[in-house]
Amino acid sequence: MSNKQFDVVVIGGGPGGYIAAIRAAQLGFSVACIDEWKNKDGKPALGGTCTNVGCIPSKALLQSSEHFEHANKHFAEHGITASDVKIDIAKMVGRKDAVVKQNNDGIQFLFKKNKVTSFHGRGSFVKAADGGYEIKVAGAAEETISGKHIIVATGSNARALPGVPFDEENVLSNDGALRIGAVPKKLALIGSGVIGLEMGSVWRRVGADVTVLEALPTFLGAVDEQIAKEAKKAFDKQGLKIELGVKVGEIKSGKKGVSIAYENAKGEAQSLDVDKLIVSIGRVPNTIGLNPDAVGLKLDDRGAIVVDGDCKTNLPNVWAIGDVVRGPMLAHKAEEEGVAVAERIAGQHGHVNFNTIPWVIYTSPEIAWVGQTEQQLKAEGRAYKAGTFPFLANGRARALGDTTGMVKFLADAATDEILGVHIVGPMASELISEAVVAMEFKASAEDIARICHAHPSLSEATKEAALAVDKRTLNF
Ligand code: FAD
Ligand code: NAI
Repeated sequence: MSNKQFDVVVIGGGPGGYIAAIRAAQLGFSVACIDEWKNKDGKPALGGTCTNVGCIPSKALLQSSEHFEHANKHFAEHGITASDVKIDIAKMVGRKDAVVKQNNDGIQFLFKKNKVTSFHGRGSFVKAADGGYEIKVAGAAEETISGKHIIVATGSNARALPGVPFDEENVLSNDGALRIGAVPKKLALIGSGVIGLEMGSVWRRVGADVTVLEALPTFLGAVDEQIAKEAKKAFDKQGLKIELGVKVGEIKSGKKGVSIAYENAKGEAQSLDVDKLIVSIGRVPNTIGLNPDAVGLKLDDRGAIVVDGDCKTNLPNVWAIGDVVRGPMLAHKAEEEGVAVAERIAGQHGHVNFNTIPWVIYTSPEIAWVGQTEQQLKAEGRAYKAGTFPFLANGRARALGDTTGMVKFLADAATDEILGVHIVGPMASELISEAVVAMEFKASAEDIARICHAHPSLSEATKEAALAVDKRTLNF
């Protein structure tokens, strides 16, 4: 029997785990959170993938690189002369590291505030003498702790191409992609998903010649087709080269960089020599070191922990949340599951609505959506109405000098209930929240159309797209 006993033990301190720990502590439980992440100085760094090598650092680099692009390409139209604009990549990366550290420290502060006991090291299941399970923490020292409830939130890792391991020098995962020290002359990305587009944008903006190789013939297949088409047009114009329908062959990495052999969509043999390659072909659930077999914790054939709709695993009082289980690999999905599980442990009715989880791609233009796409509704045979409104006709977008894209509403043909909202354009990441709230409250397009939106604001495009559902736009 371990001498450290808690009501709740959370394994993993990413957005799923740390939020679950805080919520459980708020509910009056004694809580421990075990996390093994170390920063480059070997210090504990709470926040998981999202904080250390995901959401936060990528957005910091996107912001810096966007400022650079604005100074170079857009200041002049405002009458601002900015000659000889330079970017210091070491400083840009240093600022990103500082932003990450603020977030690491913030979580540590929140643990103290909420009296969550933090353990640094790897947590793994061990069979207890009484036939139950305990958690071994292998850190600077080794100790065993136990919890009445265990929440597994061990996240995910980047998927490598078979036979092409990440060396983080030439062949980079998201980790290496976020700490490239100098602008590569030529950069390739394999996979034009979320990371491919966000990281491709960062390094293109600061001067790299970027090619993205994508296996699928369709660009952003999960996104509403009309929105994806509009986004692709914008990326093409920016000079982000995206090749669809390719078959990646042999990849050789050496002192001079990386050489990639591939077949293009026409089946022609091609080769591409680049300084660096980022592989962004999805992520795999992480149960390395968790020792699931020791206690019979069930995994599916993708390596994800099997859970039911309430995030219960096959073991009594063992729960799993976030990237390590089914569902979208998004920080806010992990957080919602963390809150819901803590509340279920407390006997409450925690709930996550998978139909209203927003998606955002933080490129320029931003792409954001919630609910169903037009192609999904067609495939379902559901009768729907569609309405779009272009930012070109929005006064605030014109004043910003950013009129790319549109807002699109999809509503049920009979009831007018909003079924999906899709945005490509400025601040789509913020605008989508209104649609999420509306869908959560089962609003109709008419509800949004009748709400007073501030003028001039980008959100007026949302109201106008809702009006467009019934062909009543006022400004277009
Ligand atoms: P993680 O954040 O992966 O955290 C798991 C933690 O558990 C890690 O700290 C890990 O070290 C630790 N751990 C694992 N095993 C053990 C063990 N046995 N013992 C102790 N500790 C362990 N999502 C968004 O919503 N918005 C974004 O903008 C966004 N941007 C992203 C950008 C990039 C480049 C990447 C890679 C991902 C991005 N994501 C984004 C996805 C997001 O990072 C994940 O969905 C999110 O981090 C999942 O949270 P989690 O808590 O499940 O796992
Ligand atoms: P992804 O799933 O978004 O995209 C992977 C892409 O790679 C797909 O288009 C796929 O068709 C392609 N692909 C797969 N195998 C390939 C191959 N052999 N050759 C060429 N193309 C291939 O995965 P990504 O970009 O790695 O990101 C992982 C996850 O991280 C995302 O799914 C998302 O959940 C999360 N994330 C979220 C962000 C956000 O919310 N803004 C930002 C970055 C990541």
